Amino acid sequence: MSQHHEHHEQHQHSNHESHSHGHGAHAHGGHGPVVHAPSNDAAAEYQLAYDQAEPDPGRTVVRVDLEAREADWKFTPGRTTRVWAFDGQVPGPFIDARVGDVLEVCLTNRLPEPTTLHWHGLRLPAAMDGTDMVQRPIMPGATFTYRFKLVDAGTFWYHSHSNETVQVERGLYGAIIVRASDEPAFDRERVLVLSDVMLDRNGEVAAPGDSHERRSGREGNVRLVNGTSEPELMMWGGQVERWRIINAAAARYVRLSVGRRPFRIIGTGGGLFEGLTTARDVLLTPGERIDIAVGPFEPGEVLSVLSEPYDRGIGPGDTELFATVRVGPAAPSSSGMPEYARAIEPLVGNSTTPTREVSFSERIDAHGDVTFLINGEQHYRDEPVTVGELQVWDIVNASSIDHPFHLHGFFFQVLERNGTPPTYRSWEDTVNVPARGRVRIAWMPDDRPGEWMYHCHILEHHADGMMAHFAVVRPGDTDSAPGQSAA
Ligand code: C2O
Ligand code: CU
Repeated sequence: MSQHHEHHEQHQHSNHESHSHGHGAHAHGGHGPVVHAPSNDAAAEYQLAYDQAEPDPGRTVVRVDLEAREADWKFTPGRTTRVWAFDGQVPGPFIDARVGDVLEVCLTNRLPEPTTLHWHGLRLPAAMDGTDMVQRPIMPGATFTYRFKLVDAGTFWYHSHSNETVQVERGLYGAIIVRASDEPAFDRERVLVLSDVMLDRNGEVAAPGDSHERRSGREGNVRLVNGTSEPELMMWGGQVERWRIINAAAARYVRLSVGRRPFRIIGTGGGLFEGLTTARDVLLTPGERIDIAVGPFEPGEVLSVLSEPYDRGIGPGDTELFATVRVGPAAPSSSGMPEYARAIEPLVGNSTTPTREVSFSERIDAHGDVTFLINGEQHYRDEPVTVGELQVWDIVNASSIDHPFHLHGFFFQVLERNGTPPTYRSWEDTVNVPARGRVRIAWMPDDRPGEWMYHCHILEHHADGMMAHFAVVRPGDTDSAPGQSAA
């Protein structure tokens, strides 16, 4: 423990030296400057969160050293691309831990620009969330340690939360699996991180594109599974596998199909869910995860893992190949398909009145360029929410394309999509809000006060300001965020 401590103080030191990163206030219509910088209390809050992260009895500290740096990577055989990667790998190292463990990640930045890490879907203290409201960017050459307890089982991911359109596409993302003590048994588990990358004629990551790309978000011309273009996956005949799938793409929606065969959905972003649903395809927006049971298949079968056409407001697109499954000879199966995953208590009863509305809209300028807005603004400062007060939010999309809404740090339940309750109850941190549609969610702020945010997970939209900050405050406390005082 004391060793960790020393280590960490060093990191803080180097982090503080690189103070002037030039990311302060920027102009912002009507409400004065929105400050994107940690408050004066941030260092103390970080220290507290660090010290309080202790594993449960019998569990352990999972320690991971990550180095973000330039590397050469082969997305396709025989062609090398300059990427930015954790430890030289795309995706970054796979983090595999258990509920009750503490995850301690020591990130050294060897990139030519600042970075931070966000832990998508994990319920951690605000100080460890990796946004620019809770920490200073990790400057080139500096090291920062994230340390927090893993409290939920599920499929999560980590990704850069700085200059994301560049840093995430170039490879700064990876998977985290947190296991419960009683996971259902399958013959095999795979973690499939779906993404894409736009490569130019020289095989390098292409420069940012035109205004069309800013509107729709960048969909790369190479589709990736675990950093490889259209790989082949080998399955044994007669076996059933658990696939944990993460959509880490900047903007591409994946309507996932496995050879157009039925599969069982066993979980979503917030872990296993109630009903076990059979489907032939499932929509995964950027940021979302799904857990499915795949198979059994006959020996010799060949199946295409596809994204089927889906119109998110930019046309339905084509059927796209992500991977090919080749089924080998039959092998014994010991997978027991559960009839039931886990109970999820509803947060609210049938009739509820929303406590807040979040609106997505678009503004088209004289050149026809589109900017997407939250509550009529870019970089919105939303009202605080109070610990223990149920939140029922209507997310209304008045714009012409879908947007995946992502809430940091808390799971919500979807109550309605366009007025219809979902067929199963689940915990989510990301949900698609269809063009001209409305999604009602409920969530409970537990006692993790601090600065949080929500945003569209299409990275270009997020970068353009389709995001909001807000504080979670304890009853009786006031929102003391830096953005509030600057009027
Ligand atoms: Cu995965 Cu702020 O996002
Ligand atoms: Cu969006």
